[in-house]
Amino acid sequence: MNFLVINGSPRTLGNTDKLLNEFLSAIPKENKVKQFNVYELAPVACNACGYCKASDGCSKKDLENFFGYYAEADAIIIATPVYNFTVPAPLKALFDRFQRFYEAKHRRGAQSVFPKPKKAVLIVTSGGDGRVGYEIIKRQAENVLKNADTKISASMLACETDTRPLSSNDLEKARSLVRYI
Ligand SMILES: Cc1cc2nc3c(=O)[nH]c(=O)nc-3n(C[C@H](O)[C@H](O)[C@H](O)COP(=O)(O)O)c2cc1C
Repeated sequence: MNFLVINGSPRTLGNTDKLLNEFLSAIPKENKVKQFNVYELAPVACNACGYCKASDGCSKKDLENFFGYYAEADAIIIATPVYNFTVPAPLKALFDRFQRFYEAKHRRGAQSVFPKPKKAVLIVTSGGDGRVGYEIIKRQAENVLKNADTKISASMLACETDTRPLSSNDLEKARSLVRYI
């Protein structure tokens, strides 16, 4: 299987990265894993130019490589911290760039936009209670991904990271999500 990992955190070995690494440690070695960090990917923001209303694709070409991997993926893993009840800005920019698939399906009647359907797992960390941010992010991700033939099959929140380290339960939960792919 091909795994595409989208890391929404700017911090190497921060809470999000640690949970992601736990998840990845549980994937059998024969699988292929391609990782993108959204801060390095730095997607150009959608500016509603209208290109994807009229034609397949996007006027901006910075995500061609990323969407090439997306097309080949069987499983999408999104790991992100909560920033102000939503995802960090570069991940929001990436979500908005999925508008091309919304337009393809809802304006031009495409049944699918990729050769194969995909499952997704969502991992969220929050410094405080985080439940509202988690629900918002889950709704956003479900909405964005469904237009890209992708269904979230499992998700988790590790909360209160500002006042406690990740627990063994958090780490175990991240590893256990692999069974939903
Ligand atoms: C700009 C910013 C905004 C944040 N907003 C929230 C928030 O709305 N709710 C919350 O619970 N935690 C918030 N946090 C805390 C992070 O979600 C938390 O520290 C998270 O575990 C960071 O993940 P990381 O270690 O991968 O960077 C915020 C942190 C930053 C830097």
